[in-house]
Amino acid sequence: MRFDATGKVTLDHIYTQPDPRAYFSALRGLDYQIPQLAKPYFAALIDEYREARQVDTPQVVDIGSSYGINAALLRCDVTMDDLYDRYCDADDLSRAALLASDRELVRTRTGARARFVGLDISEPALSYARQAGFLDDTVHADLERSEPTTGQQAWLADTDLVVSTGSLGYVGASTLSRVVASSNRSPWMAHFVLRMFPFDAIEERLSGLGYDTIRLDGVFRQRRFISAEEQSRVLDTLSGVGVDPTGLETDGWFYAQLHISGPRDGTAPRFLETFQRANLR
Ligand SMILES: C[S@@+](CC[C@H](N)C(=O)[O-])C[C@H]1O[C@@H](n2cnc3c(N)ncnc32)[C@H](O)[C@@H]1O
Repeated sequence: MRFDATGKVTLDHIYTQPDPRAYFSALRGLDYQIPQLAKPYFAALIDEYREARQVDTPQVVDIGSSYGINAALLRCDVTMDDLYDRYCDADDLSRAALLASDRELVRTRTGARARFVGLDISEPALSYARQAGFLDDTVHADLERSEPTTGQQAWLADTDLVVSTGSLGYVGASTLSRVVASSNRSPWMAHFVLRMFPFDAIEERLSGLGYDTIRLDGVFRQRRFISAEEQSRVLDTLSGVGVDPTGLETDGWFYAQLHISGPRDGTAPRFLETFQRANLR
């Protein structure tokens, strides 16, 4: 088992398979659940945005979208348990048959009214999500390292909302500020970020772009530690960034917090307030 500099086990191989089966098989054993906990917040944010900005079908960019998991949950109104059952019990299907079944899911289920764009460095994951119909468009780019191309800027131009689960920490201020710069709409944002990743640098960069950020009270279980060694490494990282893990990570789970950012204009304070008060779990 390999660990990265933060102490997390490296699961890179499951992000680049031709379909999501390895991803869901590996993460089911760890009770990975942050996309499910994020779903009502993202749905509420989309609704609030539609009303506040009078945009019928907002464009949502999911940073580190992988196989389009957040989009699938929202667009098809399914749960993570549904997806675990779907992909963990499908060993005998070809990729083509799995795709056909996912396309049928998209065709027959109705959920959030939005366009979903996935941004990721994994072409196989994006490709699957686009072919399945979970994502409407994909941007295959590493905006931590380089500016978006003209074509990528065009895909991002109509971005209304920017969301993420499980990605910030590896993806940071450079990506978010490049997405904001590419959009002509001052998009609203909601990011679920592990407590071991300080959000200060991102908040500061967004503030320079005219954004306010709030962090919701409360924490969200992301997944179980894979081993005592991973837990011990992550407890060290938390201690290094001044986060007290007592009663949370000490009990065996990674925890995330929700950061919501919006432009300092007439509409943003309303949704920031709404989320501050909200108890959607
Ligand atoms: C832990 S997975 C989270 C996937 C999904 N959001 C979820 O919650 O299930 C992290 C994702 O971030 C992607 N990623 C890593 N570095 C990235 C970067 N610089 N830009 C965009 N995506 C990146 C990975 O390919 C992977 O799909």
